[in-house]
Amino acid sequence: MRLVLRSCRTPANGCPSTSCAPRQLSLLQATVRRAYENVPHYRTALDGVGFKPGDLQSLADLSRLPFTAKKDLRDNYPFGMFAVPRTEVARVHASSGTTGRPTVVGYTKRDLDNWADLMARSIRAAGGRAGDVCHVAYGYGLFTGGLGAHYGAERLGCTVVPVSGGMTERQVDLIRDFGAHIIMVTPSYFLSIVDEMSARGLDPRGTSLRIGIFGAEPWTEAMRTEVEERTGIHAVDIYGLSEVMGPGVAQECVETKDGLHIWEDHFYPEIIDPVTGEVLPDGSEGELVFTTLTKEAFPVLRYRTRDLTRLLPGTARPGLRRMQKITGRTDDMMIVRGVNVFPTQIEEQILLVEGLTPHYLCVLTRPGRLDELTVQVEAAPDLTDYTTPATALAHRIKDRVGVTASVEVLAPHALERSLGKAKRIKDNR
Ligand code: DLL
Repeated sequence: MRLVLRSCRTPANGCPSTSCAPRQLSLLQATVRRAYENVPHYRTALDGVGFKPGDLQSLADLSRLPFTAKKDLRDNYPFGMFAVPRTEVARVHASSGTTGRPTVVGYTKRDLDNWADLMARSIRAAGGRAGDVCHVAYGYGLFTGGLGAHYGAERLGCTVVPVSGGMTERQVDLIRDFGAHIIMVTPSYFLSIVDEMSARGLDPRGTSLRIGIFGAEPWTEAMRTEVEERTGIHAVDIYGLSEVMGPGVAQECVETKDGLHIWEDHFYPEIIDPVTGEVLPDGSEGELVFTTLTKEAFPVLRYRTRDLTRLLPGTARPGLRRMQKITGRTDDMMIVRGVNVFPTQIEEQILLVEGLTPHYLCVLTRPGRLDELTVQVEAAPDLTDYTTPATALAHRIKDRVGVTASVEVLAPHALERSLGKAKRIKDNR
């Protein structure tokens, strides 16, 4: 059965004209039926709450369905959540889990085709064009970043340079030698590439790069300002997760840079209270939940992302809702003496202190009965006095974030660099 209605297909580099609720409803009905009929987990879960696919009569009925969590995917490792026979699965990706068992996701040929379309649309919304040289430094392999970006850039008509992560010196050489216009990479690794340029005496503002499409980890407005000022490129945000598709679920538009438009013709978003599970109205902050509308091999119903954001009305793409830049993940929330703190809040303050760089790590300890937060942050290369910025940052964190933190300013390159997603929390408790 084909889930995608003809009218729902959009040009590779275009945008859906409107997010049409009747169309979303019919896609949702087909997805729920497909999941119920083909995935034992969903049949059991829906039977458990007495819900039959035919009961879904409006978008609001979705809130009666149970959530899907990462644990459900792990429990059905490796292929138990697939809604098509394995022979129809054209590719799998997987994310490494902290418990050791990865979560595996699958795509039919049509899913891969839709994904390439959505990534092409995303790169276009970011300001990329056919003919651009697109340097892909997201990791290739089981991670969805590299291949997801790759096929989207090809679909848009870019010249793709599939570098993957690592070998930072070579990244700099290839950007320069091949004249890259677009770079797709995690923002933290981009900073390492830019540091390498500076260390070699190359002017980061003098490259051919025009656009950076940054995602796979939280990053702040302050980081956008820092990157744009240092390099002169447009820094735009891209969001996605392997369980829902990979990169390209939502994309920030270069003309507004005001949060990410969700490609609602393929993914239905909800915001819930992470504690009670109650659906919250648009505009409220909470946990983002997605239901896929067109996926064949791996449909997900009400998947809890653990990402915190809010839904806002569309701007650059008026028919689609936006999600605000992600604040953090529920699992990354540090509770320091009763105050909830996300690494992004620390990042914002670091970037406001002269002499500090956005290479940082939040270290949690519990020497007595109470948690303590130490922020380790690298100094800019020319900084000599480490005490003044340390004091300034500690004050800012106390005033603006509301927690007491010790600050350790470290020499440049003292912290381990990541080639992909940066690790921002070290929990020594
Ligand atoms: O990180 C997919 C991706 C690749 C997105 C490249 C963007 C660019 P996963 O490895 O499954 O997939 O991790 C998904 O990463 O739930 C968020 O917590 C986080 N994440 C992804 N994009 C953003 C973003 C890819 N723009 C998890 N801002 C998600 C903040 C992000 N967090």
